[in-house]
Amino acid sequence: MLEKNMLDQLNGQLNLECYSYHLYWQMSAWCAAQGFPGSAGFLRLAAQSEQKHLEKLLNYISDTGALPLIGTISAPPDEFPSLPDLFQQIYEHEQAISDRINTLVHQALMTQDYTTFNFLQWFVSEQCQEEKQWKRILDQLEWLGNESKALFLFDQSLQHTG
Ligand code: FEO
Repeated sequence: MLEKNMLDQLNGQLNLECYSYHLYWQMSAWCAAQGFPGSAGFLRLAAQSEQKHLEKLLNYISDTGALPLIGTISAPPDEFPSLPDLFQQIYEHEQAISDRINTLVHQALMTQDYTTFNFLQWFVSEQCQEEKQWKRILDQLEWLGNESKALFLFDQSLQHTG
């Protein structure tokens, strides 16, 4: 059984995963509207990955006998200055999610909630992979530069990734 504070924190994380899911769908829609189909498709895959995260959390909370609460989800941004800026925002968002997961892990350890501690290890690994992926994309963008032809080639390259 989860302690009240841990349940609240996990429900907060559930809300954040739902937000990430909405965020990547919104970003995907923006990319499609701007003529970046490769990025749009890649972000749809990212949204599906977030759906997996929120399902994992929801199932875990349910398995402990508690009620998952999603709550109010903030609307994601729908305007971005440029494609590189959008990917920069994703990287910073995922870094914030990693910090949040680390806080949960620390709390689980401090309260001797080893079941939740064990459950969260999957998220620790997942965040490591996600940060690596988004950083690689940012590095590619930096190498290619901001010219429209470079962004076209970058977008095409994402069509073959995922
Ligand atoms: Fe659910 Fe991208 O972290």
